[in-house]
Amino acid sequence: MIAQAGSLLVVEDDVDVRESLAERLRSRGFRTETSGSCGDAIGRLREQTFDVVLCDVQLPDGDGFSILRWCVDRPEPPAVILLTGYGTIESAVDAMRIGAEDFLTKPIRDNELEETIARAMDRRCRNVVPGDSQPASSNDNRRLIGQDQRMVQLFELVETIARTRTTALILGESGTGKTMTARAIHDHSDRSEGPFVEVSCGALSETLLESELFGHVAGAFTGAVADRAGRFRQADGGTLFLDEVAAASTALQVRLLRVIQDREFERVGGAQTERVDVRLIVATNEDLEARVRDGLFREDLYYRINVITLTQPPLRERIVDIPLLLNLYRERFADELQRAVCRIDDAAMALLCSYHWPGNVRELVNVIERAVVLCHGEVIRVDDLPESVRRADGGAPAMTLNRLKSALVDPERRLIVDALEAHAWNRQQAARSLGINRTTLYKKMKRFGIAAPQH
Ligand SMILES: Nc1ncnc2c1ncn2[C@@H]1O[C@H](COP(=O)(O)OP(=O)(O)OP(=O)(O)O)[C@@H](O)[C@H]1O
Ligand SMILES: [Mg+2]
Repeated sequence: MIAQAGSLLVVEDDVDVRESLAERLRSRGFRTETSGSCGDAIGRLREQTFDVVLCDVQLPDGDGFSILRWCVDRPEPPAVILLTGYGTIESAVDAMRIGAEDFLTKPIRDNELEETIARAMDRRCRNVVPGDSQPASSNDNRRLIGQDQRMVQLFELVETIARTRTTALILGESGTGKTMTARAIHDHSDRSEGPFVEVSCGALSETLLESELFGHVAGAFTGAVADRAGRFRQADGGTLFLDEVAAASTALQVRLLRVIQDREFERVGGAQTERVDVRLIVATNEDLEARVRDGLFREDLYYRINVITLTQPPLRERIVDIPLLLNLYRERFADELQRAVCRIDDAAMALLCSYHWPGNVRELVNVIERAVVLCHGEVIRVDDLPESVRRADGGAPAMTLNRLKSALVDPERRLIVDALEAHAWNRQQAARSLGINRTTLYKKMKRFGIAAPQH
């Protein structure tokens, strides 16, 4: 094995594109080799260690995914960056899940290629493990918890996309944890030292919102007495979280599109173009697709922000998380309020699990705080719950303790054990049959406490 620092393999079947990419990269000092097919690329990767593989998704004898899967199974995998054409953006999300370092959409803009590769090389040198990058000082209150299958996947996606600067869209009802998720993406990213700025599009009038985001020059509108920098400038080098994006006016949508595409904007009333380096995360609890259909939301903007979507399931659909969250916050409030409240009794727990939680986790947090304050003694009982929860029956799907128990038997765990058994506990084969890589399988086995039987 020959290891070369800064070595790169470009896999692309179109000879012109391949050569021009290689030429461009060589001119920037990367040691670049090329390959035109899956088979050839894997052959080279067997013989030689590369730092980065830049790989087209569509290849004549297979696709970039097979190369990606092959790579992530290596003991020291190269960073794989996939090149996707128009219309294959969904597969980019899959790529990130499998373990791609990043993806680029063709046509590649200006310095995007160089920047992405340089970042990948840099990270490889520093050997930063995603998930361990949570800053030590980060507040425990910001930790997202959940064991529901969709939440576990959401956390994985957070870690994966934190490594990119792609715009992310978070969907979810009010109180499901959208702000927390946006914050987690920021905290896991290499911008975590930079600012995290949150703005809600629903809270301000059109003019004020534009000025809030982009700033204004003196005299731009009545009341604009002095120049003012906006939130985009404030978020430079960090993340801007734009909530309730569906409320953005048509004019604002145009400005947003431009800042996403070109990273530049002008202040309201100003002529000078400003540039910023901001990772944008947007959120909404509205059906954006329907708004696009109704002509209320620009389609081009929708496609720009909808590259990676994270969906926060409502609390009533992830009942396994209810006891978990209740106990986390019970402990937290008991600590804070210096109350020795040590548990929630069965009847109260059954009610709390059957309630439909229109206000989601935020409502749960309020309910449990109130219960900790009100309860006499060490146990939370039905009487300590608000009227709305105590009346939890009509309309809402009934939740019995039995259903709760069956929901707790994690289907994902079952799936993994089945796959391992089917392959006589050969992890490599089991991982392959599950369509995940071996490292992911190890992590999951650890998380679910799965161990091979002792003979
Ligand atoms: N997975 C979670 N683990 C722990 N706490 C959570 C989780 N999700 C949400 N919370 C808590 O629930 C409350 C609401 O979360 P958050 O503000 O992120 O929701 P949101 O979707 O942004 O709400 P809104 O739509 O009103 O902006 C916060 O107190 C947050 O700490
Ligand atoms: Mg929020």
